[in-house]
Amino acid sequence: MIRVSTRPDLRDALANLRKNDAKLGFVPTMGFLHEGHASLIRHARHSCDRVVVSLFVNPKQFGPNEDLERYPRDAERDQELCRREGVDILWMPRTEDVYPPGFRTEIHVQGLSDPLCGQMRPGHFTGVATVVARLLGLVRPDRAYFGQKDFQQWRILAQMVEDLALPVEIVRCPIVREPDGLALSSRNTYLSPEDRARALSLSRALARAMSAYLAGERQTDRLLAMARRHLADLDVEYLELRDLDSLQAVSTLDTHAVLAVAARLGQTRLIDNAILAPDSPDTDLPRLLEGAFL
Ligand code: PAJ
Repeated sequence: MIRVSTRPDLRDALANLRKNDAKLGFVPTMGFLHEGHASLIRHARHSCDRVVVSLFVNPKQFGPNEDLERYPRDAERDQELCRREGVDILWMPRTEDVYPPGFRTEIHVQGLSDPLCGQMRPGHFTGVATVVARLLGLVRPDRAYFGQKDFQQWRILAQMVEDLALPVEIVRCPIVREPDGLALSSRNTYLSPEDRARALSLSRALARAMSAYLAGERQTDRLLAMARRHLADLDVEYLELRDLDSLQAVSTLDTHAVLAVAARLGQTRLIDNAILAPDSPDTDLPRLLEGAFL
């Protein structure tokens, strides 16, 4: 594995990899890597010849009162994980490599950036779209891999790539969970043991709705009410059923919809979701409820 930081070093390393028409897979991250990130790397390795991972805590996607300063970091461990997973280039740019002096462009994907997490985090998705466009421009991969964990982010980036005709394929990968159901997140490290236990309500709520969906329930208010019962002692920011393409609220469940939840546990904000569709990758969620009180 080659580790690079500056743009000239990245360019040289990429020129080497691209020989013989090698297909390039790219996994952008903010580090503090876990099995969720590792799964994206494995998907990339499976369908590409070479894999590039970037590790950059992007200041533009953090609000003024958010956790930019205390965002968890462990470069040593991240490098070890990348080496173990067979990454070819680990790119750890400095801020000026990503945003050189004079950088002026912002990318805003209208409509899709406003609801759900966009309501609570104004400007967040503009920061995400801008940095990902920039990273894609510098790496120029054939495919870029994103997690369904951040499904709104994935949806916005897929739209950006389509609208700007960027020559890259966006791949969405399933959510990786702890054995008890908690979706992996770099931010889980903030949770106290008590909040870690309470955080299970998020995946339980999704599992309950999925279980009803699989049993034939199609009424959105009923599905939402079932999920909400599991969230009674959490500070819920939103619990919504949205169309997976438009992110508009759905009243009847006849296409692909996503049940999305965001909640605060102390200082920590957690998100989770499940796709309610016949071919959903989340159909095994209800097994989380085995033995749980409904
Ligand atoms: P980060 O939070 O580090 O996540 C990097 C990628 O890992 C994202 O595509 C995210 O959806 C995916 N991921 C995180 N947890 C996951 C899980 N439990 N299962 C599957 N995939 C998971 O998302 C970002 O960084 C940034 O916004 C970024 C896209 C790098 C732009 O700065």
